[in-house]
Amino acid sequence: MSEHNLPTIQIIDAPKYVGQTVKIGVWLRQKRGSGKLAFLQLRDGTAFFQGVVAKADVAPEVFEKAKELKQEASLYVTGEIRQDDRSSFGYEMAVQDIELIGDSHDYPITPKEHGTDFLFDERHLYLRHVKPFATLKIRNTLIAATYEFFNQEGFIKLDAPLLTGSAPEGTTELFETDYFGQPAYLSQTGQLYAEAGAMAFSKVFTFGPAFRAEKSKTRRHLTEFWMIEPEMAFYDQERSLALQERYVAYLIEKVLERNDQELDLLKRDKDLLRSYTQLPYPRLSYDDAVKLLQDNGFDVDWGIDFGSPEETFLANYFSKPVFIVNFPKAIKPFYMKRHPKRPDLVVSADLLAPEGYGEIIGGSERDTDYDYLKAELEKEGQSLEEYGWYLDLRKYGSVPHAGFGLGLERMVTFVTGEEHIREAAFFPRMTHRLKP
Ligand code: 4AD
Ligand code: MG
Repeated sequence: MSEHNLPTIQIIDAPKYVGQTVKIGVWLRQKRGSGKLAFLQLRDGTAFFQGVVAKADVAPEVFEKAKELKQEASLYVTGEIRQDDRSSFGYEMAVQDIELIGDSHDYPITPKEHGTDFLFDERHLYLRHVKPFATLKIRNTLIAATYEFFNQEGFIKLDAPLLTGSAPEGTTELFETDYFGQPAYLSQTGQLYAEAGAMAFSKVFTFGPAFRAEKSKTRRHLTEFWMIEPEMAFYDQERSLALQERYVAYLIEKVLERNDQELDLLKRDKDLLRSYTQLPYPRLSYDDAVKLLQDNGFDVDWGIDFGSPEETFLANYFSKPVFIVNFPKAIKPFYMKRHPKRPDLVVSADLLAPEGYGEIIGGSERDTDYDYLKAELEKEGQSLEEYGWYLDLRKYGSVPHAGFGLGLERMVTFVTGEEHIREAAFFPRMTHRLKP
């Protein structure tokens, strides 16, 4: 085959071209070699593989070029694809020719160990490396699977505004901005808008960024994160929980199906992940959770919000995600439905992930009573003018409804087995990080 009509392919398609000569646009990750062979570790954004340049088989200037390539230089490599059973990818290229596209000098992320802060300062480059690559590919699967799942279930997606005048999740975590002379806030949640949507379209979900000015520097908190918020008219809490667990199991199944390579790159235990697709997930009342914690040596009183050690214990106790249901009203937002028998509780549920990943979903049935919600807003010192439209939903054909919010980055962290939530964001935003 003449040079100009060689197939130009991507690394991921190499298995289909075994024995053929192809051309691929790549970057050089690493290189090692001897006097006779150069091993080029290559990537092209679809996969990672190796190009082998044998001095005996190529023109002398090609071997020289290979020896001089710098980390992260971009190039076209031409050569024959062959099987390589020693690598996890399973294929490599016997390189015949190299064409330099863009040179690279003093690439800052070297093979030596770097500190985490450094890697996040260099996030724009670090994205090219195995861990962010695999993590963000899995994130992409979760996003795609979310749309598939809710479309199959008959939901429609609505985009809630991000500039708002309200603080439904409490006033302490707001990012305030100036909106033509009046204060506005970056949205904490799309939920209230989703509730209006559910009254118009029955089953809806919003999926967008949420902002929380959380001062807490934990491995689970971002100041900007993405949330999927389904809201369903005529659903009670039981139906909502059944939907939630099916959704979470579906997400895990799709990652297992589509991201085998990435799970291997991250060394995630796939059998363990598969065990989390077994339904149902246990339901444990808040009351019983407090007792269970006390019986196991935790110093917790009824009424507290669980912290990381408590959440970790509870989900690990069941070795799978677990719903904690019916929390104390005092620690939950105003819109949650009062428990019919226990005025100190609300009909809510948090889904806690095992292995220390904590709360991945928060949700509830919504109170339907106009006067009650108005009084709750007043108690919180919220502006009734701001929430008039929300109260209207209880004035014109109020119906039982329920919904929940899944934090995308929490879910990514859980599925990938990452230590810290910052790994799950493209360019993470945290208390001390606004750049790059
Ligand atoms: O529990 P939260 O605050 O619930 C809501 O916002 C409701 N309006 C949801 C609803 O019912 N429609 O947040 C929901 C989820 C949490 O379970 C967690 O996964 C994630 O959003 N989350 C965060 N993720 C990263 N960083 C933060 N600071 C987060 N705060 C919440
Ligand atoms: Mg919550």
